Amino acid sequence: MTETHEHVQPSFWHRLLDRQLTRRGALGTAAATTMAAALPITFSGAQAQANNGGPVEVDPRKVNPRTVPPFRPVDTTNADTLTVPGGYRWQMLAPWGEVFTADGREIGFNHDYVGFFPADLLEGGRSSTDALLTINHEYANALFVGGNTKDRTREQIEAEMRAVGVSVVRVRKSGGEWKIVPDPRNRRLDAFTEMELTGPVRGSAAVKGATRVRGTVGNCSGGQTPWGTLLTCEENVDGYTKAWAGSGYEALHQGWVTEIDPFDPAWMPKKRTGMGRFRHENAAVTVAKDGRVVVYMGDDMQDACVYKFVSRGKVDPANRRANRELLEDGDLYVANFGNGTWALLDYARNKKLQEARGADGKPLFTSQVDVLLDARASALAVGGTPVDRPEDIEIHPRTGEVYVALTNNSKHGNYFGQIIRFREEGDDWAATDFLWEVFAVGGPQSGFASPDNLVFDPYGNLWMVTDNSDLGTNPIKAFHGNNAMFFFPTEGGNAGRAYRFAIGPVDAELTGPVWSPDGKTLFLSVQHPGEDSESLDTLTSTFGAKPGTRVPRPTLVAIEGFPGWREG
Ligand code: FEO
Ligand code: CA
Ligand code: CA
Repeated sequence: MTETHEHVQPSFWHRLLDRQLTRRGALGTAAATTMAAALPITFSGAQAQANNGGPVEVDPRKVNPRTVPPFRPVDTTNADTLTVPGGYRWQMLAPWGEVFTADGREIGFNHDYVGFFPADLLEGGRSSTDALLTINHEYANALFVGGNTKDRTREQIEAEMRAVGVSVVRVRKSGGEWKIVPDPRNRRLDAFTEMELTGPVRGSAAVKGATRVRGTVGNCSGGQTPWGTLLTCEENVDGYTKAWAGSGYEALHQGWVTEIDPFDPAWMPKKRTGMGRFRHENAAVTVAKDGRVVVYMGDDMQDACVYKFVSRGKVDPANRRANRELLEDGDLYVANFGNGTWALLDYARNKKLQEARGADGKPLFTSQVDVLLDARASALAVGGTPVDRPEDIEIHPRTGEVYVALTNNSKHGNYFGQIIRFREEGDDWAATDFLWEVFAVGGPQSGFASPDNLVFDPYGNLWMVTDNSDLGTNPIKAFHGNNAMFFFPTEGGNAGRAYRFAIGPVDAELTGPVWSPDGKTLFLSVQHPGEDSESLDTLTSTFGAKPGTRVPRPTLVAIEGFPGWREG
């Protein structure tokens, strides 16, 4: 930790200081340093947190804040293209429909979270030009995947089921250009792929004894673990019971955090039921002082809660195989923002869960399986605070503060959303108390609305993409233009100020930002361009269309022109 931000003490830290809590604990401890030295992969708490948990080339403890945006901000626009500042350029990489596996599978639809796994990660490397990327595919738009939104055929439904899930894609940069390259690990995981249930719900009566299930769907945001696996988050999963009727779709098999090893296709993906079932938006992973793994998660719904999971076991820097099993077993907590505490969602250890009754006077829960299957009801029963659509959560790489995007909540007239941040007591991510404050508020005054995905650079600047989709044509969002990406310093005089970096095409949402470890390439998903088109004859966007055609395509883009990270 540098001295520079020792002096940054926003007022809300005073209570922490009154409690004589040390700020040095979380980062740069002797234990963390030893751990980093012993590991083949980037593993220090600090490094694991920047960049969605993906590796970065510099040590965030050795950089000073650089709070000036490395670009000239762009003005709002409704142009049907991806707009970036002067000096930056972008290319399409991995558009929907591109064949990329030896067995002819295609890149899926509606790209969201992107994980950057350097190809040499397991050998201790941090390549910025050769990687396995994981791309979440959140959902399929029936108009584009089949051309028909009503009376869809069995074939069309199965095409949708193959268009969702996750793509694992080997990519390489050469001559300034990124390309997909062949690799035996290139693969698609979709709504048919076999996966394993782990944790308390596995084999329970509620899932009719199932230990293996089919598919991962609703793959929204996610996170990377320090041991080099992907956590993909299953968000909007309940509507498929009707939409995919007759396909064998089982809603209770979805709505989990699923762990996938991009390096090991033989390792069956694991659904982590101990982390609860809700509309999982994201998973922000870190390692607590004592070596337990902590994962922060949001339930993206109006009036839903923020959670964290703390593993029972501790990371063993020398044992990747054991680390891969850590998220099977642990404690789930929900945030009470009224008193700054984490409430435990454990049926045996929290009487409130045993005593909770429904309107009919009957117990709401009779076991931990019940608690996990309806984590939202459990959360409210123990005093979890309903908030305004918690979407992405990220951990500041140098201060350890946890930032949460609260997208909006039209039920309460909160049309623009806000970003909040909290600090755990004793700077210990496994703590049961925290303090929070508002970091930035959306609206015409600040220039942004509806914050969604977040990512930190190693200097501690926050980058955010917006999701105004559900505001429709609400006139009060007119100031914003198309969905965009913003830069926010988190320290210094401009902390919390928004600078517009990029703007998506018509009806699109920018999602999944992540950098190569050197900070020179930003990968970004362009999701659902042309989403509001009513027919193929009345397209609102043609972004990403194949040459000679007009149908818009969601895609991953690689943006070049960043100066890269530097220590000092
Ligand atoms: Fe899939 Fe909450 O965004
Ligand atoms: Ca989202
Ligand atoms: Ca993120």
